[in-house]
Amino acid sequence: MKRITLVIPVLVFLFFQYSSAKVVTYNILSYGAKANGRSDSKNAFLKAWNLACASTNPAIIYVPTGRYLIATAIIFAGQACKSKAITMNIDGTLVAPSSYNAIGNAQVWIKFYRVNHVTISGGTLDAQGAPLWACKSSGKTCPQGATTLGIYHSQNIVISKLRSLNSQMFHILLYACNNAILQGVSIVAPGLSPNTDGIHLISSTGVTVLNSKISTGDDCISIGPGNSNLWIEKVVCGPGHGISIGSLGWELQEPGVHNVTVKSTTFIGTQNGVRIKTWARRSNGFVKDVVFQHSTMVNVQNPIIIDANYCPNNENCPNHVSGVKISNVVYEDVHGTSATRVAVKFDCTKGKPCTGIRLKDVNLKYRSQPAASSCSYVAGTASGLLGFTSCL
Ligand SMILES: *[C@@H]1O[C@H](CO)[C@@H](O)[C@H](O)[C@H]1NC(C)=O
Repeated sequence: MKRITLVIPVLVFLFFQYSSAKVVTYNILSYGAKANGRSDSKNAFLKAWNLACASTNPAIIYVPTGRYLIATAIIFAGQACKSKAITMNIDGTLVAPSSYNAIGNAQVWIKFYRVNHVTISGGTLDAQGAPLWACKSSGKTCPQGATTLGIYHSQNIVISKLRSLNSQMFHILLYACNNAILQGVSIVAPGLSPNTDGIHLISSTGVTVLNSKISTGDDCISIGPGNSNLWIEKVVCGPGHGISIGSLGWELQEPGVHNVTVKSTTFIGTQNGVRIKTWARRSNGFVKDVVFQHSTMVNVQNPIIIDANYCPNNENCPNHVSGVKISNVVYEDVHGTSATRVAVKFDCTKGKPCTGIRLKDVNLKYRSQPAASSCSYVAGTASGLLGFTSCL
């Protein structure tokens, strides 16, 4: 008897706990979305978002299978949200109009702004970028193109098993975000598509990228100014330009990049493997505490490269002055094949030499022979089993 009188209040308590945290689901088909790829479903997405955002319970926005046209740029704004967590569960595909002008001047096609605890899970984003790339290569005047998915000033973001196809510009951009994890992401664009970076990070901290595969015409992952505490693991890149810290140092006053770990990555036929790229312009930016570990290179043109003299066409770099300070960069267990003889290039500057550059167990071959390296204004050490000719 005593036992039962105790159990009942506990059950009642648990019931209210459970019901107050009850997840509510908003299916976009209930708000007018059409899965035919032709009717604009933007308003249905916004209605579902507004309801999810206003809900005091955790909310799911559900996107069933099918193709949903998002005909113009869409913004999911989070400033006024009551919900403590919103998950967008996508089984279908969000598709942009085939005419590039519809989103080409919008900067971002699908934008999240000031959201907290948002998860995007599954699904495909198809930006149909090909006509815009064709316009750009024809030399005609074309819009700049939109980033496919841009997340701005947000926190506690999860992007899981999302596929992004043929972006007009960058596929995924995180700008001023804190605490984000991207996992099982797949990004696909042709090797010759312009500026189609896979994941671009700016001014963000605590970003993790795991188990992802990125094929594009530009950087696989590019790390701009102001990023810190990044963790990139088990990423396969190619085709494309590899993983790049930079370009940095365009601005005189620029926040630095620090504490970046890139491990267990594979580069297949890319222009670069792991790169640090900084403008030959005056800047007080910096790069420090970077680890590149366990990388496999397959026929990569520049497997390891620091280019601190970046100045395409010799424009915008008066006198080629030293800019960003680069220090404490470790390359450990980087191995495989280089498509060029000089597999390791450290091109630093007299005014701000690269310091604390450490190579450990680096084994890179060119045509089955140990590859070469080149060093200018770089200080550091080479140790362990070195399967190339080190200039350090
Ligand atoms: C570096 O970043 C990692 C996350 O990638 C974090 O766990 C670690 O605490 C950071 N280290 C410092 C010294 O901030």
